[in-house]
Amino acid sequence: MQQQETEGSLRRGPGGKSNPATTPSVHRVSTTTVRPNIFAPMVGAGIGGPYLQREALLPRFTPQRLPHRGAQVSSLAEALRTTLGGQAGATQLLVGANGSGKSATAAHVLAQLEEAAALCGQPLQCVRLTCARYEGAYQILLALDRALPGGPPVPSHGWPLERLYDALGAKLEALGGPVVLCLDELDSLSPPAIEEVLLLLTERSSDLTGPGLTLLLILNNGTLVEDLPPKVAGRLGAHLSVFPPYDAEQLADILAERADVALRPDALGSGVLALCAALAAQEHGDARRALELLRTAADEAATGGCCVIDETHVRRAISRGEGDVLTAVALGLPLPARLLLLASADAARARGDPRVRRPSSRDVLRHFAQRCAAAGVGFGGAAATAVRGSQLLAELGSLGLLEVPLAAPGRTRRGIAPLLHDAQLEVLVAADARLGPLQQTRSVQRRL
Ligand SMILES: Nc1ncnc2c1ncn2[C@@H]1O[C@H](COP(=O)(O)OP(=O)(O)OP(=O)(O)O)[C@@H](O)[C@H]1O
Ligand SMILES: [Mg+2]
Repeated sequence: MQQQETEGSLRRGPGGKSNPATTPSVHRVSTTTVRPNIFAPMVGAGIGGPYLQREALLPRFTPQRLPHRGAQVSSLAEALRTTLGGQAGATQLLVGANGSGKSATAAHVLAQLEEAAALCGQPLQCVRLTCARYEGAYQILLALDRALPGGPPVPSHGWPLERLYDALGAKLEALGGPVVLCLDELDSLSPPAIEEVLLLLTERSSDLTGPGLTLLLILNNGTLVEDLPPKVAGRLGAHLSVFPPYDAEQLADILAERADVALRPDALGSGVLALCAALAAQEHGDARRALELLRTAADEAATGGCCVIDETHVRRAISRGEGDVLTAVALGLPLPARLLLLASADAARARGDPRVRRPSSRDVLRHFAQRCAAAGVGFGGAAATAVRGSQLLAELGSLGLLEVPLAAPGRTRRGIAPLLHDAQLEVLVAADARLGPLQQTRSVQRRL
């Protein structure tokens, strides 16, 4: 379109009249028009491919609802209710694995608390700080001070902590209403820094007149709080809210809600949500990972000019997954080595629960011979296949793709363990038809 307009303007001479000397022939114009534009596939055949609002699949998007976190939302809301009456609430501890919805829940509840406080005319401030962005107690108190209105300016460094806290305390008193402080990713601070922050915030806030601070502490690892010295743990008196990892069904519900906002109707091919959910459930039930998979698959579809996301896009999304070095290494291996990786997974499945008994190298080599025969790969007889298989076992062990125990005196040989999980093996299989299908039984998991 842009190109046509530019050429059109060339046709006009001074005064907007047509200039025959510079008028391109009809043939030339039509040639440029039919030439495929190299950017066309990147923006999708339909504008934006399957997307209506890509933003809704980004981590920073705040969803209206949080499926499967009703209990945690209610318990937090109940605990913060006193702040609407001008009183401080008990310290809340939100603990759970990555992507289990802790930050999303806190953001959701605090936004509604602020709304409710405004409706009832209760002065109240909510401050959320992500501790990973701060180095220690001083920076955190400083960030809190700067997030609150009023008070004299505090320097970025140089004051003793006590003085900084006194300035903050004066500010908290002057506010005349509760302040809810959410310290997210608290465990990104060093244990002494955590202790220092919590000691200051709990010990000193009890001296304040007025409601002072209500703390919301978010961590992955609850034992960090259990390990705090008794004087800090005792003052915290925290109420614990646990965020378990999501299972595949829960992740599918979460994805479905997001997809409703983010994608065109009919943009989801059959099985796509279930596949993204199942893969993310295998990787610790992380909703962030599930959303990332769906977004990358939708990007793949958009790049290929498709308006419908299918399972191939999801599999490409997995192989594009950041940091999946193991899959990238495995994809670059010669065919026999990839066959051996699959054979080790076959052998592990044949064992039933590989946590109880791992397959021996003999088992793996037997499956390797079967896979080679099916793929038409030969080494000149059964013995040669076993020799080549044994060499490859050692090579894959040194690449970190298989756990191959060392034979050493006094060491119990524990058998072979595949270190690629199902999703990664599926990428291998999808990339080369000669490998044959992955055996569909239960997941063979790594690091047993
Ligand atoms: N129940 C849910 N409903 C909708 N979206 C969710 C839900 N749980 C998590 N999410 C989304 O998943 C992503 C990760 O969630 P969140 O950031 O809350 O995880 P987290 O528990 O704080 O993880 P981390 O410990 O890594 O900080 C966010 O985009 C969030 O909106
Ligand atoms: Mg978080």
